[in-house]
Amino acid sequence: MAYEYILTASEDGIGIITLNRPKILNALNLQLVDELVAELERMDRDPDIRAIILTGNDKAFAAGADINEMAEASAIEIMKRDQFAVWDRMSLISKPIIGAVSGFVLGGGCELMMNCDIVIASETAVIGQPEIKLGVMPGAGGTQRLTRAVGLRKAMEMLLTGEPISAKEALRYGLVNRVVPVEAYFQEARKLAKQIAAQPPLAVQMIKKAVHKADDLPLGEGMDYERNGFYLLLASEDRKEGMQAFLEKRKPRFTGK
Ligand code: CAA
Repeated sequence: MAYEYILTASEDGIGIITLNRPKILNALNLQLVDELVAELERMDRDPDIRAIILTGNDKAFAAGADINEMAEASAIEIMKRDQFAVWDRMSLISKPIIGAVSGFVLGGGCELMMNCDIVIASETAVIGQPEIKLGVMPGAGGTQRLTRAVGLRKAMEMLLTGEPISAKEALRYGLVNRVVPVEAYFQEARKLAKQIAAQPPLAVQMIKKAVHKADDLPLGEGMDYERNGFYLLLASEDRKEGMQAFLEKRKPRFTGK
C-alpha cells in the first residue's frame, strides 16, 4: 500500500512505522493518522510481524495535531469529522507497540506515545500537552491516559500550564520506560522489539490485553480475566514447546500456535 506521510519497514519479526512529515515536525493531519492506523492494522494481521516500533525522527516524534487543519474548521465540522474515532482503533491492536521517541512529543504526539505499550525516549525528548495554550484541551486521550500514567497532580500541572517535561522527568513519573542518548534510542527500541518478537506470540498478546484490562476493570474481574488467559495459553503448542525446552535444557522455538 502506498502511503504519503508514513514510512514502513519490517525485519526479523518486527514492523517499523516512521511518521514522515519532517518539515512540520510530524504534525498529525487526518491523512497521516488514517495511514498510521491502516498500517498498524495491516501489521497486526501479518503473521510474520510479532512486535511493532512506532517512531518519528530525532527532532520530533510529533508536535501534535495539525493546527492548520483545525484552525479554519468550525466546531460542527470537527464534530462531524469525528476525527478521533480512528484513534480508538489503535487500542485494538493486539501486538505490542514500542514507541521510540525523540525531540517534540506534544499534544497529539504525546497522546500517540501514550498509545504505545513501551516507550524508549531520547534524552532530547520534551513531552507535554500544550493544547490549553491554543484555547482548547486534548481530544485523543490526553486528560485520561496522562492522569492514569503520572497521577492526578502531575497531570493537572502539565495540562493546565501546557508546559512540557523533559525525558528524565517523564522517566521519573513512569511515562516512559527508558531514556538513552539520542544516537541510541532507536537501536534500543529495536533491541527490545526483537527480544519481544522472540517470545511466544499468543502469550505476548494475551499479556498485553490483560495489562490493559488493569486500567478498565475492578481488581477481581481483572484477576478473573488473567486466570482465563492463563488457562487458554495452557492449550497452546507454544506452552508445550516452552515447558519441554526448559526440561530438555534447550532454547524454545515458538511458532504462535
Ligand atoms: N501543526 C501544524 N504545524 C506545525 C505544528 C502543528 N502542531 N507544530 C509545528 N508546526 C510547523 C510550524 O508551523 C513550522 O512550519 P513553517 O516552517 O511552515 O513555519 C514548522 O512546523 C517548524 O515549527 P517551528 O518553526 O514552530 O519550530 P520551533 O522549533 O520554533 O518550535 C514547537 C517547535 C515548540 C513544537 C512549536 O512548533 C509548537 O509549539 N508547535 C505546536 C505544538 C502544539 O501546540 N501541539 C498541540 C496541537 S493540538 C493537538 O494536538 C490536539 C489533540 O489533542 C489531538
